[in-house]
Order: sequence, then C-alpha cells, then structure tokens
Amino acid sequence: MARDVKRVAVVGGDGIGPEVTREAVLVLERLRETHGVRLELEHFDWGADKFLREGVTLPEGALEMLSKDFDAVFAGAFGDPRVPSNRHAEDILLGMRRGLDLYINLRPVRLLHPRLTPLRDRTPEDINFVVFRENTEGAYSGAGGFLKRGTPDEIATQEEFNTRKGVERIIVAAFEYAREKGYERVTMADKSNVQRFGGDLWQRVFKEVSARYEGVEANHQYVDAMTMFMVLDPSQYGVVVTNNLFGDILTDLGAALQGGLGLAASGNIHPGRVSLFEPVHGSAPPLAGKQQANPAGSILSAALMLEYLGHAAAAAAVERAVRESIAEGHTTRDLGGALSTGQAGERIRERIKSRQS
Ligand code: NAD
Ligand code: IPM
Ligand code: MN
Repeated sequence: MARDVKRVAVVGGDGIGPEVTREAVLVLERLRETHGVRLELEHFDWGADKFLREGVTLPEGALEMLSKDFDAVFAGAFGDPRVPSNRHAEDILLGMRRGLDLYINLRPVRLLHPRLTPLRDRTPEDINFVVFRENTEGAYSGAGGFLKRGTPDEIATQEEFNTRKGVERIIVAAFEYAREKGYERVTMADKSNVQRFGGDLWQRVFKEVSARYEGVEANHQYVDAMTMFMVLDPSQYGVVVTNNLFGDILTDLGAALQGGLGLAASGNIHPGRVSLFEPVHGSAPPLAGKQQANPAGSILSAALMLEYLGHAAAAAAVERAVRESIAEGHTTRDLGGALSTGQAGERIRERIKSRQS
C-alpha cells in the first residue's frame, strides 16, 4: 500500500446495496472537507443486472486488477430474486473473499444505544465484542456433488475444508487483535463434539496458539451453547473466533443484539493487502428501491475501511456521528425513526461536519 492517495473500488451491487452504499460514499466525500481524507473512488457495476444483461459476474481479470490497482473494495450487497441460483453473488462476493484470500471476516457486535437491543436491561458496555469469522474455507468451499440426482435414492454431499494454515491464521489474528485492542478473552466456537476431524484440528490449534498469548484468556464453547449465551450473557465476550459457517450465523444473531441487520458492519481482511468492506446485511429485496433501508451498517463499514486505510480519526468521527444521530432518534424506521435512507445518511453527515466547524 505505497500509494499516497488510497484507491477504493465501489460496488453497490443489488437490492438495497446501491442505496446504502451511496450514503456511505457521500460520508467519505464529506470527510475530505472535514478530515482531509483523500480517497480515489472508482465505481463498478457488478451485480445481478449486469449478469442478466451480459452474463458476466466477476469480470475476467477483476481480481488481479483489484490487487494491483486498489487498496480496498467497498461493497453493498449481492443477491436478487431474478437469480435464484445466487450464482452471481457467489462469483462476486465469495469470489473476492476467496480469490483475494481475505481470510479474516471481522464483524463487530457493538451496542450503540441501550434502546436498540431486544435484550432487557443491557447497556453498551454489556454488548461489545468482535467476531473473527474464518472467511476462505470451511463449508464455503463449494465442493460436493450429487449422485442419482432427482431420484428417490439421491445423495448430495457438501464438503467442509479446514486447513491447518487456514485455522491457524484466523486464530492468530483473533489473539493479535485481542492483545492489541485490550480484550481479555478469546472464545472459540465449534461443534467438535460432533465434527470430529475439523473440530479436532480447531481444538488443537486453538490450544497451541493460545499458549503463545499470556494474559489473554482462552475460552471454548460449543456453538449451539454460544447462541444461548450470546442472548443470556453477551457481556462475557471479547473476541470470538469461529469457522466460516458458524461465523455467518452468529453474526446475524450479533446484529440482532445490536439493533438489527441495518447496523452491522464488516471487513473482509488480509492484512497488508486489498481488503473488502461491506455491511453484514444482504440485498433485502422487500426494501429495495424504497429508500427505507438503514444506511448505518454501510456507513460503519466505511469507518472500518477508513481505519484499515490509516484514517483512524476519521473512522472515529464517523462512528461518533452514527452514535449521536441514533441517540437523537434520527433513524430509519427499522430503528423506530421516520427518516428515509438518504435523510438518515444526511443526518449522520451533518454531525461529522458540525464537529469540525
Ligand atoms: P437480508 O440481510 O438481505 O435481509 C433480511 C431482513 O433484514 C430484511 O428483509 C430487512 O427486514 C432487514 N434488513 C436488512 N438490511 C437492512 C437495512 N439496511 N435496513 C433495514 N432493514 C434491513 O437477508 P435475506 O433476506 O436473507 O437475503 C436477501 C438476499 O441477500 C439473498 O439473495 C441473500 O443471499 C443475499 N445476501 C447477501 C449478503 C451480502 O451481499 N453480503 C449478505 C446476506 C444476504
Ligand atoms: C454474509 C452473507 C453471505 C455469506 C452470503 C450472501 C453468501 O450471508 O456475508 O454474511 O454467507 O457469507
Ligand atoms: Mn450472512
């Protein structure tokens, strides 16, 4: 990342993706004035429309271009009812995660205001952890197949891969993050009581890596129990590390704890390389084109990207602005407000500006 001005590829994608991405991009533009953040943005039209029109998902050479010419990718969402196979989303989103080797899917679960959580009597101090989801292998390998498809004797196999290298690097990343950010505990979630081989590998590597991090407590929970504890006592978590599929599921629950999918942010990261930032939510077809979607998840993902690109002060200012606008009830309807996507974005941007003037 030797460029003076960081380059960001923006892919709005499908459904509410372009609407929420627009608001986040306007935030980035505002930061140029308020914080001197200079980014070069280039837009790409990858998504369902292009796939249906041209048969193209992730264009040829795209991964090489992203690695060579960009520092980050900023995405909206992929998924469209007109493509029931989800083929384009798989090619584009999973294609970037795997193809760019973005092995860390970092998903903070942070309550921004007590009124947002469906849990009783919980404060922002109680709900404040980060999930490290393995992002390149596990059940997302796409390997498997059919035997006797369409017959009563059909067999479908869906394979899960856990490599020593893949398991180790995500666990190391979780411990490094805990140490750097001052989290006391790393909790690993698996299903090693049933998944004997993959689970065994995760268990062994977790023990081995955790021994290298004195002062950070290593804790293990079966993933089924974790879903219960996340609801009953979320305050026990600092950093959570888990595989691709469990991480996917746990982070939608995490999103609910912080007030809904409209608020949850994520980074798909390979430290030192081009990395991808996007809200946790999908294309939400029922909301698409109605200016009803909450742009906060996308805007908070932009904050994660800013931090990654070395603009920590700007990232903090964005988070603060989101927090303040929520505290004042200036929100979209998923959070009980009455604002449109664009209005909610503007309220956040106004706060970034007013702080500087
Ligand atoms: P979803 O996240 O798109 O939406 C589920 C529900 O959550 C919505 O109906 C809505 O009620 C709420 N919601 C989501 N985002 C919101 C926002 N910004 N503001 C307010 N409410 C919001 O999940 P889904 O309905 O299961 O999936 C729809 C499509 O999106 C599918 O094609 C799926 O594969 C895809 N998807 C893509 C991504 C991604 O691109 N990263 C992530 C998840 C799902
Ligand atoms: C997510 C999504 C994706 C996933 C889908 C759309 C492939 O649910 O980013 O959480 O399963 O990773
Ligand atoms: Mn998901």
